[in-house]
Amino acid sequence: MIQVQHLTKTYEDLHRGRFVAVDRISFTVRPGEIFGLLGPNGAGKTTVLRILSTVLSPTSGIATVDGFNVESDAAEVRRRIGFVSNNTAIYERMTAWELVEYFGRLHGMGNDQLLHRMENLFDRLRMNDFRNVPGSKMSTGMRQKVSIARAMIHDPPVLVFDEATLGLDVLVARNLLSVIRSLRDAGKCLIFSTHIMSEVERLCDRIAIMHRGRILDSGSLAELTQRHREDDFEELFFGLLSRHENLDAELAEGVAS
Ligand SMILES: Nc1ncnc2c1ncn2[C@@H]1O[C@H](COP(=O)(O)OP(=O)(O)OP(=O)(O)O)[C@@H](O)[C@H]1O
Ligand SMILES: [Mg+2]
Repeated sequence: MIQVQHLTKTYEDLHRGRFVAVDRISFTVRPGEIFGLLGPNGAGKTTVLRILSTVLSPTSGIATVDGFNVESDAAEVRRRIGFVSNNTAIYERMTAWELVEYFGRLHGMGNDQLLHRMENLFDRLRMNDFRNVPGSKMSTGMRQKVSIARAMIHDPPVLVFDEATLGLDVLVARNLLSVIRSLRDAGKCLIFSTHIMSEVERLCDRIAIMHRGRILDSGSLAELTQRHREDDFEELFFGLLSRHENLDAELAEGVAS
């Protein structure tokens, strides 16, 4: 469903010059699967997810969603994808209900279909108690639920979550993780970024460990722990990162000498 091949993104940065944020990464995500991008701050996770959701264009490489290219078939891709970040703008004056309805209309949904879908989503995400609360009076958790409902309104086969649990309390975060699981069980294709290890351990069918724009390794938790002969996932993660950093430092020294 999602195919990424040799994807690269460079930014022109005032201080760093030409900066490689995503460096020739490749992965695929199938329907009915939760794929986790795990990496520290600045690893390149958001950049990858923004390319997938057609907000950014890649410098080189290819990304497709359901066979459609994110650059040349952007409209088709947008129809198939829902994007949830932790800083989606909420219109201050619109209520939760109005906001989700508005996005449904933007996707061209008809009255009956939209109403049915909204009732279903508001139940599922437990949003009925703040249907009529305007954006300006919403808590972080409420805003996040509205962002999720808005991303799911057109029932896309692919959902992208960029650090979606950031700022949520334990209860709301747990509810979100269980919604994500049920979406997987309904055959959706899910990609999820985080720097919280326990989230990927509990949720993801496959994991890619990202650092400085590269995927250091990927596979299921069982595959990764077997390959690195390390049962403790946290140890495995830090081991990979520090080996990669040492390697980079040696390479840099080699170039300098
Ligand atoms: N518009 C931009 N111009 C220049 N550099 C950028 C731009 N956007 C991102 N970067 C850089 O690209 C790198 C990857 O950023 P990105 O936001 O993709 O990382 P991330 O893994 O999502 O990090 P975080 O966990 O902090 O959200 C960082 O070094 C960042 O500073
Ligand atoms: Mg990010």
